[in-house]
Amino acid sequence: MTVGLVPTMGFLHKGHIALVQAAHKQNDIVVVSIFVNPTQFAPNEDFNRYPRDIERDCKLLDKAGADIVFIPEASEIYPPYSQTFVSVETLSQLAEGEFRPTHFRGVTTIVNMLFNIVQPDRAYFGQKDAQQTAVIRRMVKDLHQPVDIVICPIVRETDGLAMSSRNIFLSDQDRKNALTLSKSLELAKTLIGVGERAVPTIISAMTNLYKDLQDVQLDYIRIVDAETFLPVSALALPREYFIIIACKVGTTRLIDNAWITVELNTVRFQ
Ligand code: PAF
Repeated sequence: MTVGLVPTMGFLHKGHIALVQAAHKQNDIVVVSIFVNPTQFAPNEDFNRYPRDIERDCKLLDKAGADIVFIPEASEIYPPYSQTFVSVETLSQLAEGEFRPTHFRGVTTIVNMLFNIVQPDRAYFGQKDAQQTAVIRRMVKDLHQPVDIVICPIVRETDGLAMSSRNIFLSDQDRKNALTLSKSLELAKTLIGVGERAVPTIISAMTNLYKDLQDVQLDYIRIVDAETFLPVSALALPREYFIIIACKVGTTRLIDNAWITVELNTVRFQ
């Protein structure tokens, strides 16, 4: 009997449903957790306004093939005097970690607790949170945890916007501006597809697309090694890389990425 776990913070969209469907195909029992985890939000972030709709989520999960929905209270997960964290040191401080220094420590702590509580054989995460998947993979490897981590592709709206629970906060104008994230990734893919390998050239072409936008603040565009998240200066070696973007559009911080596999004679994207 195998158990697949899909950890979520609720307000589900098609990206989450794809994770549940993948878990349903590969396991006898699918557990979905819904928990807006306070320790992964800094005091100045959007914990209080993070969208929540448990009733709607449960209906969607029922249809998608979830067997158990686990919705713990914060006081059950973090009892009084709780003071233990699980932290993946270096990787958690890079890229997103430079802007959200305590974020990944909160993620690895809750994911570790969910693994302890549910004891899954497999756990499902979306590629949309690319660095989160790398951090969790690192944690599982370093702690010898007996869980297979399954990463599912980004699910996008028809116009390219990566699905995110936070998209609900975008005004009409923000929604238009937000398309720049996926457009800039497409531009990078085109450049790499025609043979460009110099990272500064690719990043500067991408950054150009943001320069005339109002109310948009680009935190970073980087090309990093897919495992270490250390920036690279050229797509030189046969290896996996991520192009990662973080950008504040209006009041909403969005992230997006593309996974690049460079081989001897071919380049593949996801
Ligand atoms: O990706 C998310 O929604 C969260 O970071 C996770 C993995 C459910 C942990 O709270």
